[in-house]
Amino acid sequence: MTKPFDLNDNQLLRNQSYINGQWRATDTSFPVINPATTQILTHVGDATADDVVTAVVAAKRALPLWAAKTANERANMLRRWYDLIIEHSDDLARLLTLEQGKPLPEAKSEILYGASFIEWFAEEGKRIYGDTIPANASHTKIIVIKQPIGVVAAITPWNFPNAMIARKAAAALAAGCSFVVRPSEYTPLSALALAELADRAGLPKGVFNVVVGNDATTMGKVLTQHPDVAKFTFTGSTAVGKLLTQQCATTVKKVSMELGGNAPFIVFADADISAAVAGLIASKYRNAGQTCICSNRIFVHDSIVAKFTAELSTAVQQLNIGDGLNAANHIGPMITQQALDNVHQLVRDSIAQGAVLHLGGHVDQAGTHFYAPTILTHVTNRMALAQHEIFGPVAPIISFTDEDEVIALANDTPYGLAAYFYARDIGTVWRVSEKLEFGMIGINESAISNAAAPFGGIKESGNGREGSKYGLDDYLEIKYLCMGGLGT
Ligand code: SIN
Repeated sequence: MTKPFDLNDNQLLRNQSYINGQWRATDTSFPVINPATTQILTHVGDATADDVVTAVVAAKRALPLWAAKTANERANMLRRWYDLIIEHSDDLARLLTLEQGKPLPEAKSEILYGASFIEWFAEEGKRIYGDTIPANASHTKIIVIKQPIGVVAAITPWNFPNAMIARKAAAALAAGCSFVVRPSEYTPLSALALAELADRAGLPKGVFNVVVGNDATTMGKVLTQHPDVAKFTFTGSTAVGKLLTQQCATTVKKVSMELGGNAPFIVFADADISAAVAGLIASKYRNAGQTCICSNRIFVHDSIVAKFTAELSTAVQQLNIGDGLNAANHIGPMITQQALDNVHQLVRDSIAQGAVLHLGGHVDQAGTHFYAPTILTHVTNRMALAQHEIFGPVAPIISFTDEDEVIALANDTPYGLAAYFYARDIGTVWRVSEKLEFGMIGINESAISNAAAPFGGIKESGNGREGSKYGLDDYLEIKYLCMGGLGT
């Protein structure tokens, strides 16, 4: 295998699918590219549809023993997995940066963020409570128990190659389900390193499986249509989520979908402008803007738009762009050339329609996959970049005059994942929180993601929640026991 991985523990670099506790050889392989340099990092085995079926069958076989373990036993194993991830977090971060591009400090944060779900659900699995309900007849009792739903299949994206797996797997495993994940073909190494650590943590064979392959369509069909998969969970675009949901309908699987977003970021006239600028920098330029919950439309009250734009420009000009392996860089590459071209096209179209380029708007000198952090003003909500996920480091500013107008504009999208606003008046805070049609609202705060909170969207941003006590429900069945013959 080629370097320059330079890991403390070279066994974390795996290049085969992990199925039923074993590394599985394949006939063919595909390359993993470093988006910062566009060089091939290594090759990984290309799993076929048969390999995916094998993983599902292994997960089905492993299910009864795993489900029968006590919550404490499962928690102890998950805790071991968590400890190993923390112990190897520097190596995991390096692998993540190499294959995904985000700067090392951000990659390390993602590893800790992902691990926090494993720690959190290990504990929460001990609190899967049932119910007793007053019955309608004196000789019966109504009891509700919760049971693991069964084999869970997941497809996860390249933008958070560790955390999106950990967030789903932690809840599924804590609930007593077994798990098969197909990570993005762009970022298989982070997923396989997680499998290596799951193996070391002693997770039983078949409980956690990772199938890496280049043919997303074929692999997705198996995972969404195999009758032994009880639940399917996906993080990715709305278009693909709709297709996968349709495929799941053939066997009526329970689905949860964490799909695209088009987050408004609203700055009201009474906002703390510096706090809003800092919040926007963190939200918009994290992961080079390749985040489902990143701010996509920046609505600023017209009385402060000039001041806000000036402060934002100053802050953006402090951001370093370049290879994520240099920890001093803040913005890494776009994942592919196509991704960069899409962003650039949206920027050009908006300028052609009257938007004003304030900063950036071009490919950066750091390399072909790097897009310069960009600010556009005089944007309207009808422009394509305000109606679609930009998925790049571009901040389009739209000015507004009153609360009703901005709420209507913010809600004028089929998406409903995250929204943010900055205001001080308590009446504004409450009214706007209630009226925004989004699953998550950051109020004077843009760092909203954490293991204790329910992550998820409404409208075409999906369904289900990840993280928090609600996150377990997606992996549990409710079973009603009606006990009769109990006397008068
Ligand atoms: C996402 O892009 O959907 C994940 C972002 C997060 O978990 O903070």
